[in-house]
Amino acid sequence: MSILSGARIIVGVAGGIAAYKAADLVSKLTQAGALVDVVMTERAREFVAPLTFSALSQRPVWADLWEPTGAAAARHIDLGRAAQLILVAPATANVIARLAHGMADDMLTAIALASSAPLVIAPAMETHMLAHPATVANLATLRERGAHIVPAEPGRLASGEVGTGRLPSTATLLGAARLVLGSGGDLQGRRVVVTAGGTQEAIDPVRFIGNHSSGRQGFALAEVARDRGAAVTLIAGVTALATPYGVTRIDATTAATMRDAVLAACVGADALVMSAAVADFAPDAVAEHKIKKREVAARDGADMTLRLRRTPDILSELDAARGQFPGLVRVGFAAETRAVQAAARDKLARKGLDLVVANDVSQPASGFGSPTNAVWLVRRNGELTELPLLPKETVAEHIWDEVVALLPTRAARA
Ligand SMILES: Cc1cc2nc3c(=O)[nH]c(=O)nc-3n(C[C@H](O)[C@H](O)[C@H](O)COP(=O)(O)O)c2cc1C
Repeated sequence: MSILSGARIIVGVAGGIAAYKAADLVSKLTQAGALVDVVMTERAREFVAPLTFSALSQRPVWADLWEPTGAAAARHIDLGRAAQLILVAPATANVIARLAHGMADDMLTAIALASSAPLVIAPAMETHMLAHPATVANLATLRERGAHIVPAEPGRLASGEVGTGRLPSTATLLGAARLVLGSGGDLQGRRVVVTAGGTQEAIDPVRFIGNHSSGRQGFALAEVARDRGAAVTLIAGVTALATPYGVTRIDATTAATMRDAVLAACVGADALVMSAAVADFAPDAVAEHKIKKREVAARDGADMTLRLRRTPDILSELDAARGQFPGLVRVGFAAETRAVQAAARDKLARKGLDLVVANDVSQPASGFGSPTNAVWLVRRNGELTELPLLPKETVAEHIWDEVVALLPTRAARA
């Protein structure tokens, strides 16, 4: 279950042109199971009608602190107390200034002042407003006070100019909310390394040997670790997936570069989950220019023979050098098409792993690119747990549960 499920979140919407994008944010948060109370500034209501937000959140929208029934005035303290997170998106230069100076002259600023919930601010405005020393200083004040600022993005602005000031995508804002909500989780203070995606081994400048890995399981592992408070390094092979918010991504698209990246990232790390599909063999030599049929025919006849050499075995190298990685919990993946459990046990023993996550990739719903996975968890003591077909995020939760259980034994293992 996602960290957003059941979370009490206040979305503050200020009066900027990006206010309409907050509708998508509220919709996605609500779909993820969050209880969203939308609080709008007076100016925000010039841009989007409150009805849009109340329909999407299925809850009342709070806007006017002074409305005559007194309901809003009575509720603002309760709302602030109940909230686990206040996310202001878009945050105007004006609302940032008022928050920085502790003003409480409307519903949103009064709630922010009355609440001890973490504050996430997503500024969106013209480049010059964002770069103005007043806005820079106000954001610095809020950051020093513990607010999390989601950087505005570069691109085309409403004015037609190109510059920094766009509200980040809904996916980024959701990632920021998840990161902050999960910052006190059971991986807090831990540094973890996750590999994801497939490698490509060049044959010539245009061709390669690759595999079908999409990176979805590894990216889900990285997101869930972040949601549980870890500092995450994601070493990504070939994948079309966007970098999860708050995760440090290192691209490594060959077995050799991935080996170097993993060995470097694991120094001082608490856990490595190696879910990337790394090539076992690579072309012995990479042709300098595109290989031509007629050149091959002239040299070797019609068919071409490709000689392959072994690539570095990352987990075995890590095991051989384990003295350099004291206490590192090591998790491997075994993507198999037959005798899956036996292959997983063999891999665990040969590579000195703590856990192997095995799956049968010949099954359509747990194969490459699917949003679900059915895995066996094979432990060092020989125990085995078979998980049913689950979303890859849920599989990731189970894997981190195993890692968390292994972490307290670090000192002993070191
Ligand atoms: C059409 C229009 C677009 C605006 N867009 C932005 C914006 O993107 N960011 C911003 O900081 N202010 C923007 N403003 C200025 C704010 O609306 C103004 O500062 C207002 O007082 C903000 O009130 P609030 O912070 O209480 O919502 C815009 C104003 C207009 C008229």
